[in-house]
Amino acid sequence: MNMKICFATQNVNKVNEIQALLGNQFELVSLTDLGHTEELAETTGTFEGNSQQKALFVYQKYGINCFADDSGLEVAALNGEPGVNSAFYAGEAKNYAANNALLLKNLAGQNNRHAQFRTCITLVWNGEVQQFNGIVKGTILTEQRGTNGFGYDPLFVPNGYEKTFAEMSKEEKNKISHRALAVQQLIVWLQQQAQ
Ligand code: IMP
Repeated sequence: MNMKICFATQNVNKVNEIQALLGNQFELVSLTDLGHTEELAETTGTFEGNSQQKALFVYQKYGINCFADDSGLEVAALNGEPGVNSAFYAGEAKNYAANNALLLKNLAGQNNRHAQFRTCITLVWNGEVQQFNGIVKGTILTEQRGTNGFGYDPLFVPNGYEKTFAEMSKEEKNKISHRALAVQQLIVWLQQQAQ
């Protein structure tokens, strides 16, 4: 059995990573494979809403089962910011240095450093919507440590660990990350459909 499913992302690395975990019962196709080159709209203001908006758009436009993700960092003392604005917190999209600098500035003198990374994956399977949430809780340091990973990784220490995400190997981070936890649930669900 070989079921095609679209992962609504432009990020080929994410597609390859999940394809390897899914095995060959499923054939993942990317937006590029579908010939879709524009960015998908993410305008709902929540991770649940944005991932659903993207997955439903592709399902309706291309008629293929589809899932999409949306992730970000939620900081308790900042009322959940940067949240859905994580990629462009400081303005320009994915300027990680500026985003980290702004986060440190906004937390200056703040003792409550609790934060969590969250991923929501929405799957649209034969028109039915399923959602999977992955959360990893931790704290925000007062200065950056480590050079691996991306985004807020150099500032985030997951609970129960000493190292930041940016000081962990890819393998270490991928065992405990918000994205990994959401993907694991998605995979269990999909593999049940294939039985
Ligand atoms: P996306 O939805 O996976 O594209 O993530 C949106 C933004 O959230 C990224 O541009 C990062 O700023 C932040 N983010 C999401 N996941 C991570 C992570 O694992 N480490 C660090 N930053 C992340």
